[in-house]
Amino acid sequence: MTTGRQKPGLSGRRDEPAQPIGIFDSGVGGLSVAKEIRELLPGEDLLYFADSRYCQYGEKPPDFIRERSFAITRFLLARGCKMIVVACNTASEAALSALRDAFPAVPFVGVEPAVKQAALHTKKQRVGVLATALTLAGNRFSALVERFASGLTVVTQPSPGLVEAVEAGRLEAEETETLLKMYLQPLLDHDVDVIVLGCTHYPFLRPLVEKIAGPEIKVLDTGKPVARQVMRVLERRGLLSPRQEGGKESFFTSGLPERVAPVLRRLWPRPVPEVIPVDE
Ligand code: DGL
Repeated sequence: MTTGRQKPGLSGRRDEPAQPIGIFDSGVGGLSVAKEIRELLPGEDLLYFADSRYCQYGEKPPDFIRERSFAITRFLLARGCKMIVVACNTASEAALSALRDAFPAVPFVGVEPAVKQAALHTKKQRVGVLATALTLAGNRFSALVERFASGLTVVTQPSPGLVEAVEAGRLEAEETETLLKMYLQPLLDHDVDVIVLGCTHYPFLRPLVEKIAGPEIKVLDTGKPVARQVMRVLERRGLLSPRQEGGKESFFTSGLPERVAPVLRRLWPRPVPEVIPVDE
């Protein structure tokens, strides 16, 4: 695997509205973003890649995450994707700008913790952010806080174990609740009134987060804003599918389909015929 500039065959791209949107994450977390894209753009075909063999990214060196992001991007482009959505905060932090440099003709949409939206919602000027350590330590995140939340108290909390809980489908398990209580307590102690779910796996834990945090605290993620950004970018490039419905989804994984498929089926709101293994 290399991370050089794109191969000549990919540079003379001429994309069409009927081509699919490629979406990837370290695992099933990016489905929280894909779901919103599906809802907003029901006519689009989606190719989703769960890099489950290498989950979690938050524990890997940034260079490794960049390599994986390049390999997956090439895989999705080779299958005709007209756009790539990096549905992972950690990969967006580690790889998005390198991807844009290396594939200048390809539209990329990344994700970032909803700090901007949190700044608009907080009344107490105190915001909590749950994310991976890598996301919280990154330049994109500090730039985000500086730009939109410099006058606020922003309490950050790395949350190891939550990605595994979602990957294993333990969405309501007692051990997941115990872990979440531990991570949310410091935010509650700081009297935040908004909690940002800064990892695309965490929206699947939203019911538990809301139960622990209580009704006074607003819980935010970026699925919907990212879906709107996908629509805007496609519109601008004349690449929106003219279809109003009937978009299909295909699911790929670098992991074991027998492990990934049951969780994916649980998290995806429509029938999932198969999860295709990829040796990438
Ligand atoms: N869903 C990824 C994110 O948004 C999970 C990170 C990981 O694999 O550690 O950051």
